[in-house]
Amino acid sequence: MNRTQRQSLLEARITGTGSYVPERILTNADLEKIVDTSDEWITTRTGIKERRIAADGEAVSDMSLRAAQRAIEDAGLTPQDLDMIMVGTFTADMPLPTAACLLQEKLGVSHIPAFDLAAACTGFLYCLAIAKQFVVTGVYKNILIVGADKLSAFTDWTDRNTCVLFGDGAGAAIVSSDGDGPEIGSFYLGAEGKLAELVHVPIGGSLRPVTKENIGGHGQYIKMAGRELFKNAVQKTEEAVRKTLESEGIGLDEVKCIVPHQANIRILQAIARKLGVPMDKLYSNVEKYGNTSAAATPICFDEFVRNTDLVPGDKVLLVAFGGGFTYASCMVKW
Ligand code: ACO
Repeated sequence: MNRTQRQSLLEARITGTGSYVPERILTNADLEKIVDTSDEWITTRTGIKERRIAADGEAVSDMSLRAAQRAIEDAGLTPQDLDMIMVGTFTADMPLPTAACLLQEKLGVSHIPAFDLAAACTGFLYCLAIAKQFVVTGVYKNILIVGADKLSAFTDWTDRNTCVLFGDGAGAAIVSSDGDGPEIGSFYLGAEGKLAELVHVPIGGSLRPVTKENIGGHGQYIKMAGRELFKNAVQKTEEAVRKTLESEGIGLDEVKCIVPHQANIRILQAIARKLGVPMDKLYSNVEKYGNTSAAATPICFDEFVRNTDLVPGDKVLLVAFGGGFTYASCMVKW
């Protein structure tokens, strides 16, 4: 892209946000009755106190709908104003069709493109970066992006190593060329396929489809190499933060707050140490919701925006990591 073309690009703004978590709360005390664990272990190792669990029959497109309706209203739009829908998820209602197509129907709109993007916990930030491209080039005016996952459906409730970590939810945003809201600045996207096995669901894809034999070993649930994940999460998050700061040409002291993926408070503490910032520079709600995968960053961002007085000039850095292994960051500027 040459200089003249770049100069003619539009701005992409986040003109609305919304989020949704299911009503049902699963506390650490509830988990003590299911597996050999304790509130003390979960709290000290993860910072999680409780998480939300979707109702039977409540799927990713349902949670996405609730978050999307709030974001659309927040942007002062109606579903008919949307030009495209993207859902970051790896736990769609079913393998086919996508959650985005089901969401389109539930929103009462038709024709507009709708697709899912699978980048695990990084899904929302990948969607944000893609939405920006369509908006700055003037191809689309208003794009709905959602990060949603129902991890409870892919959790092995007999495995104490993983079942204490996850929760369900959805977060959404509207990316527009017109309207009020912070500008989407520089971003950085990355992936490391050689780390694929750090967190994966072995059964249920084209390699090992669901058969009676295949599901005997609980392979349809999330498998995780916790310690290795922890190490890579800290490393790649730091890399992603520094890359976007570099692109913006600013230091961390010029960033009001980092809104990171919510996996574990100890990961966030380690990231804060690496970056040389106090913990209160990183926004967290992991205590209430656990790790909701692609939903975690947008739920956190929605909560942060609603609870914080943000003024022109404020900069907020979103950053996430997840299965794949994927990672991403993005600067949002008021
Ligand atoms: N309750 C009690 N004890 C437990 C539990 C539990 N829920 N889970 C594990 N333990 C035990 C283990 O069996 C082990 O016992 P042993 O020493 O007798 O073998 C001991 O606790 C220590 O286990 P570790 O796995 O070494 O514990 P660690 O301090 O590494 O914490 C944790 C584990 C919390 C999973 C941590 O490694 C972590 O947070 N990793 C990153 C997870 C993550 O980011 N996941 C997101 C990935 S992306 C996505 O979500 C899709």
